[in-house]
Amino acid sequence: SGLTTLDPGYKNTGATKSAITFLDGEKGILKHRGYSIEELADKSSFIEVSYLLIYGNLPTQEELDNFKSAITKHTLVHEDIKKILEGFPSTAHPMGVLSSLVTSQTAFYPESLDPNRSIEEVNLSIIRIIAKMPTFAAWAYKNQVGHPVVYPDNSLDYCSNFLKMMFALPSEDYKVDPIVAKALDTLLILHADHEQNCSTSTVRIVGSSQASLYASLSAGINALWGPLHGGANQAVIEMLEAIKADGGDADKYLEKAKDKNDPFRLMGFGHRVYKNFDPRARIIKKAANDVLEKLGVNDPVLNIAKRLEEKALTDEYFIQRSLYPNVDFYSGIIYRALGIPTEMFTVMFALGRLPGWIAQWKEMRENNEPIGRPRQVYIGEKDRSYVDINKR
Ligand code: CMC
Repeated sequence: SGLTTLDPGYKNTGATKSAITFLDGEKGILKHRGYSIEELADKSSFIEVSYLLIYGNLPTQEELDNFKSAITKHTLVHEDIKKILEGFPSTAHPMGVLSSLVTSQTAFYPESLDPNRSIEEVNLSIIRIIAKMPTFAAWAYKNQVGHPVVYPDNSLDYCSNFLKMMFALPSEDYKVDPIVAKALDTLLILHADHEQNCSTSTVRIVGSSQASLYASLSAGINALWGPLHGGANQAVIEMLEAIKADGGDADKYLEKAKDKNDPFRLMGFGHRVYKNFDPRARIIKKAANDVLEKLGVNDPVLNIAKRLEEKALTDEYFIQRSLYPNVDFYSGIIYRALGIPTEMFTVMFALGRLPGWIAQWKEMRENNEPIGRPRQVYIGEKDRSYVDINKR
């Protein structure tokens, strides 16, 4: 009652103060804890960026070594996870499997449900989930293709271990290609955090009820799944494939995207905050060219993507609405070149976004933020008297 201001989609409502990620959508700037995304993508590693986001500063060598060895210790998951996995049909989308496995951690570690846990215990949950996410993600895929799961290899770095769990087969001696591992590490850095987006706001709002870290992260994974958010990377490749199958005429699809009577949108274009180039898209476009060249992959959809981008950037409709390619536009092309199947693209996004969600959840808890509870403007019926069912 008395509420008159409305902001559907929270287009102009700040819900929190945060010291993690700075984003200037007009200028196309993205910084984590003050460091530019360009510099982090060029010089850092995903594990180091995770530490930076969660703990606020770049680690010293000793801090980094300790962080890495703690993560390595927890990569194995409970054997009963396999039973949960087996319960899913092979048609299950890996995002649904991933969010379920993350929620299942509340059962294996019930102490995570205690809202008054010490900071040391919360840190243990953080380490555990960073360590186990690649295992869950790779196993979700193995379950889908009906292959036996591969156990973590703690002699490998974070990305190489994930790639081995994804692709190794019992009959083969699998060697991780360092070009692939490096490219994946860069992609994860580029997804690591993005302030109060849909999934991150979900993590914070679920966590604000003092739900466990695992339950909050699982909610974030589900929010990320939708095609307007992280699911866009899968939708982009499906769109590019559809254009290719339809003769490769990018211009025709650009016209469809502009037609207000056609529900088709140019996937991987537009952003709530960036009204200028998404800085991540710039880095990813260059990485897509580099990776495809290094791996000797010739993917015809890359040319369709480039044509779409070129046309859109000079088209009145897209210029007027400040629609530029976003992070999802070229990422799928790289994932595909790395051998990652399309249905796993959004899972890759979740792997990358994990440290951001954790950092935001931790900040929200440390700031003792109140429970998230938006209001509404009621527009329904006012007063009605109950009518007996035989009189309706
Ligand atoms: N293709 C065609 N028209 C578009 C597109 C697009 N991709 N995006 C926005 N528009 C139009 C929209 O129709 C509207 O036009 P009008 O003013 O004539 O009604 C105008 O641009 C503003 O769009 P909006 O939907 O009001 O903007 P929003 O801030 O609510 O939505 C968005 C942002 C990202 C959901 C939207 O741009 C979109 O649906 N893009 C495609 C999906 C996508 O790529 N999502 C990934 C986002 S980035 C990373 C992530 O979060 O995962």
